[in-house]
This record gives sequence, structure tokens and C-alpha cells, in this order.
Amino acid sequence: MSDPVNVYGTKTPVWDARADLVVIGSGVAGLTAALHAQELGLQVLVVTKAAVEDGNTRWAQGGVAVVMDGEHDDDDSVAKHAEDTLTAGAGLCDEDAVRLIIGGGPAAVARLRDRGARFDAADADSAELARTREGGHSAFRVIHAGGDATGAEVERTLVARTADRRVPVLERHIAVDALRTPLGEVVGVTVLDSSGVLGVVRAPAVLLASGGVGQLYQATSNPEIATGDGLALALRAGALAADVEFVQFHPTVLFTPGARGRCPLVTEAIRGEGATLIDATGAPVMRGVHPLGDLAPRDVVSAAITRRMTLAPGGVDDHVFLDATGIPGFAKRFPTVHAACVAVGVDPAGEPIPVTPAAHFACGGVVTSVDGRSSVRGLYAAGEVAKTGLHGANRLASNSLLEGLVVGQRVAEAVAADLAAGLLANPKFGVLPSVMTAPVAERDSLQRVMSRYGAIGRDTDGLAVISSVLDLSTLDTPLWTHEAVEDAALTLVAQALVTAAARRTESRGCHVRSDFPDRDDAAWSHSQLIRLSPSGHPVLTDPILVEDVA
Ligand code: SIN
Repeated sequence: MSDPVNVYGTKTPVWDARADLVVIGSGVAGLTAALHAQELGLQVLVVTKAAVEDGNTRWAQGGVAVVMDGEHDDDDSVAKHAEDTLTAGAGLCDEDAVRLIIGGGPAAVARLRDRGARFDAADADSAELARTREGGHSAFRVIHAGGDATGAEVERTLVARTADRRVPVLERHIAVDALRTPLGEVVGVTVLDSSGVLGVVRAPAVLLASGGVGQLYQATSNPEIATGDGLALALRAGALAADVEFVQFHPTVLFTPGARGRCPLVTEAIRGEGATLIDATGAPVMRGVHPLGDLAPRDVVSAAITRRMTLAPGGVDDHVFLDATGIPGFAKRFPTVHAACVAVGVDPAGEPIPVTPAAHFACGGVVTSVDGRSSVRGLYAAGEVAKTGLHGANRLASNSLLEGLVVGQRVAEAVAADLAAGLLANPKFGVLPSVMTAPVAERDSLQRVMSRYGAIGRDTDGLAVISSVLDLSTLDTPLWTHEAVEDAALTLVAQALVTAAARRTESRGCHVRSDFPDRDDAAWSHSQLIRLSPSGHPVLTDPILVEDVA
């Protein structure tokens, strides 16, 4: 098939399709939005760069945090769940967003169950759901499926409904750039198939539901697809992002020497059911660190493990251990973790599991309202790629599937309302991006330098090293392959993260500065907004400019 390229490195599209709403990504937020938008009568197209079931959602283990009517601990409530979310978020949550999204949880879970999701029951004869606890939660309120395979069940349900309802899905196509009108409204996207053929999807509304950025680091709980493409596309389309410096490290992925890429998660729910973190000498890691001990918020536990590894007698350790030997029926309750352990020769019933922190979740992202509207007309975001204000500086465990379910539903309604009110631009005015190249750093160097200097324990000098490596090693590269689009996204997101992390001279939530170890509320109890300068560099901007994204 002919696929001509002009002098600016821009290909001529081979095909051109139309929809009311194009959804980028097939995880919980994207498929929830797509299904509901179709129910509302919109013509929807889902675009995903892998297979439809390959989103980040399916790797989620612990569950969905939700306080359901008549099924909760005696003194638990939706308000308490919101309070725990605000405490974990370390002063940067948007309280209204927290109350609205957490408050929408019970109805969202009920809808998902109506779509066919099966959660674990408290016991064989009970209609009540089993509940566990995770870090930062003051009550047992995390429902789960298949023991520790909650994400897989959520994804299975939504993929099955998507197929039943014949929602069209374009698999193995990566979104490259937004199609914009001369006034800057987003009216579609360009996409590349796996052999580099360019197509255009014109739509008055584009929803980014493309997940996170875990592949910025050498070791992550995220799959290979988590390369920040949606965030980069949004920045290039003129949207504002915020809180990008807050990348949550999960305290416990399975440690194997020299592991790279996606490492198996060791769910926090194991600690919820009594396991404890110990170091190589058997000493408890969390003793005296936080009143919640092993169930402290995730940022606290990850930082404590990192400190313990650094202070290990005889030099730096690369892991600690999770002692789950006291949990009866481990293999049945946590089959996914059990299988991952057995695969590397560890028997969790008889010996502690070697664990280490790894990049897990982007707490910040594209600035949106609780309805997924971004600062650019026609562009919406939901799920991990978005920053609604739910997570602040540190996400509370098991709040992300919940957010995807709630905001996925709301964003479909927002798009339908914006279309009905004539607020969105006509796709026929969309102009193809004139340039299809972007700065690209070599992925391995980027991941190495981010892991060394941009993980837990950052400082001015280390962040400057990342900036220099990115400056010196980037080359303008045509975005003609999936790999080039992903590498351009990782490069831009790393630049944005480092810009924000260097400016935030304090430690808060997941942003831990060894040269500024204390939280500084007087100077820093606000989010930092970031956008691209006309020359394409991430710059921090004044909060006043986005007051109306709500
Ligand atoms: C876990 O199961 O520990 C992860 C759940 C989450 O990230 O919310």
C-alpha cells in the first residue's frame, strides 16, 4: 500500500474514518466510557495499540475500594473512605473530586455487576461480598475477584460486553497526534497500524484512556504498553497536565535478580491479611515508622523499604521480604501471586517472598474535571492518564479501578451533553499535523537514568543528570512506527516529570527528595501545572490559567 511522506516527515493517510467519539485505550475507563456512550446513542470507535484485552487493568490484583450500602465494617462509611483518600493524597487532592468519585463508587460497582462481573463472596452460602484491607485504608472495604485477579475479571466483563454490543475496536493501532481545528479544538486523531500505515479518525470528541507511564523505569508493575502516549499526545495538543512528578512506587513486586520490564505484583492485600515486611535479618521494616504499620499508605511503605535497603549492613540491598507464611490457604486466596512465586522457585507458604518497590501508578496526568473534560475543547481523559484530583500526591490503594468505572461513565455523559449542546467543533475543519517528528531518547538510557535519579529519593544533582542525558541523547525522529511514537512519549513525559520534580523542593507523597526531606506546606500545598511551550518544551505554568477546567 502506498504511504507517501512529505518533506516534513508527514505521511499521507491511507484511510479516513468518522465517529462521534474515539476512545484511545481499552482498560476500565475506556471500555466503560465506550459502552455507555454507545448506550447514549453515540457512534463510538475504540482504538488500542495492543489487543483489546491487553490494557493495564487486567494486571490489577487487590480490588476495588468501595463502601457498599449494608455491606461494610460497623464504623465504616463513604465519608471515611473519602477521608482515607485525602490523607493518602498528602494535601494535594481536590476534595470535591474525592467526595464525588468515592461517592459514585457503589453505583459504579452495581453497574459493573449488572454487566456480568463476579466478585468473591464472603463465604459459599453468602450473597455478601468478601472485603479485604490495603495500605492507607482504615477499614476492610476492598472487594476482589478470583482472589487476587480483580483487574482480570473487570477487563473480562467489559471486553465481553464490548463484543456483545458490537462496539467497534481497532486493535494494534497507536494514536500518534490529535487532529485540530485552526482554533485548537481537537477533532480526531492520526493512528498508525503495526506496519506503519497512517490512518485518520475524525471525531468531535477524543477520549484518552491510555493508562500510565510505568515504562519510564527499568522495573515496573505495568505492562509494556504503559509508555505515556496519551499524556504526550495531550501535551502536544495544547492540554494542561499536573502532578506529573508524583509517580507511585508499589512497595512490593516480586524480586528476581536483574529483573527488567514488567515485574509480577505482590498485592498489598497480602499485608491486609496479616503478612509483614522484614529485612534480610528478619527485623520488621515498618516497626515504628507509621501508626498503621505494614498497612501505612503506599508512599510511606515504599520509602521505608528503600531506606532499609540503603542502610542494609554490608552495603545496599536490592530487596526485602514479605513474610506471608502465617496466612492459611495462601495459594487459594492469592492464586496469581502464588503462581508467580512458584515460577521463580519461591514457596510463599514456607518462606518469605523476596520483594522490592517498582514504578506502579501515575498519580498526575492530563488535568480534567470529574467528567473527564480537559482544558482543550474536544479532548477528554479518564483513568490513569487523567488528573481529576482524586489521587493528589499519592493514590490510595484500589481507588483506580473505582475511578475508571465512575469517570468512564461520567465522561460518556459529558461527551453526549457537549455534542447535544453544539459545543464541539466540526471534524471537517480538522487539519493534519504538519510535522510528524519528535525528539526521541534511546529507551534503555532513559529508563536507566530515570531509575537511578528519578525514582524514590531524588535530588537537584540527579534530576540535572536526567535533563542532561535527555538533552544530549534526543534526536528528532519521524513518528512512523509504534516504537518511535512510544519512545517520543516516554521522552516528553520524562522531561515534564523532571521539570516538575526539580521545581518541587520538598518531599510529599510519592515525590521524595533526599535534599529536601520535609513536607513544606507553606510553599508547596498546590499542584504544579505543566504545558508545552511553542517550541515543544514542557514548562510550568500559573494555576490561575486553569481555574475554569471544572
Ligand atoms: C495491589 O493489589 O496491591 C495493587 C492495587 C492498586 O494498585 O490499587
